[in-house]
Amino acid sequence: MIRIENLTKSFSTFRAVDRISLEVPQGSFLVLVGPSGCGKSTMLRMLAGLELPSSGQVHFGDDIVSDGDRGWMIDPTERNAGPVFQSYALWLHMTVAGNVDWPLKIAGMTKPDRLARISEVLSMLGIEALAARYPNEISGGQQHASPSLG
Ligand SMILES: Nc1ncnc2c1ncn2[C@@H]1O[C@H](COP(=O)(O)OP(=O)(O)OP(=O)(O)O)[C@@H](O)[C@H]1O
Ligand SMILES: [Mg+2]
Repeated sequence: MIRIENLTKSFSTFRAVDRISLEVPQGSFLVLVGPSGCGKSTMLRMLAGLELPSSGQVHFGDDIVSDGDRGWMIDPTERNAGPVFQSYALWLHMTVAGNVDWPLKIAGMTKPDRLARISEVLSMLGIEALAARYPNEISGGQQHASPSLG
């Protein structure tokens, strides 16, 4: 479960996120909707540990992962969150399969497990046929591929 308490983020005098509190139960799917500039990405960046809150706390289960009041947070790499950025980043020197493989490798997965996972993910995204290509050899839409919900 994720619990956010009184979360605020100011950039100098501007409040991008203003005292948000909410709970996200385990296994649930939460969507933040709002006009451009209302603070959605800033919220998510605080959840991922990419932005230190100005005040308030973020809890993952029983752990406090960010505490703005104490000016302290756990590193992004230590909190097992998987942000997907609004402006995506692909390693240009790695193939499609290599890009999917990289974080799995960093996470210490064995090669057979990684190969299985790569195949599963590429199939989910409908881009199995592109596995061996480099990012400059696929279309913009293919670079953005997301799971089909249909
Ligand atoms: N590093 C920063 N310094 C100053 N202001 C910032 C910074 N990052 C974001 N902001 C401002 O904070 C507000 C919230 O930005 P944020 O990126 O969270 O918006 P958003 O809801 O994700 O918008 P969009 O739908 O356009 O992606 C905006 O007004 C933005 O200009
Ligand atoms: Mg945004």
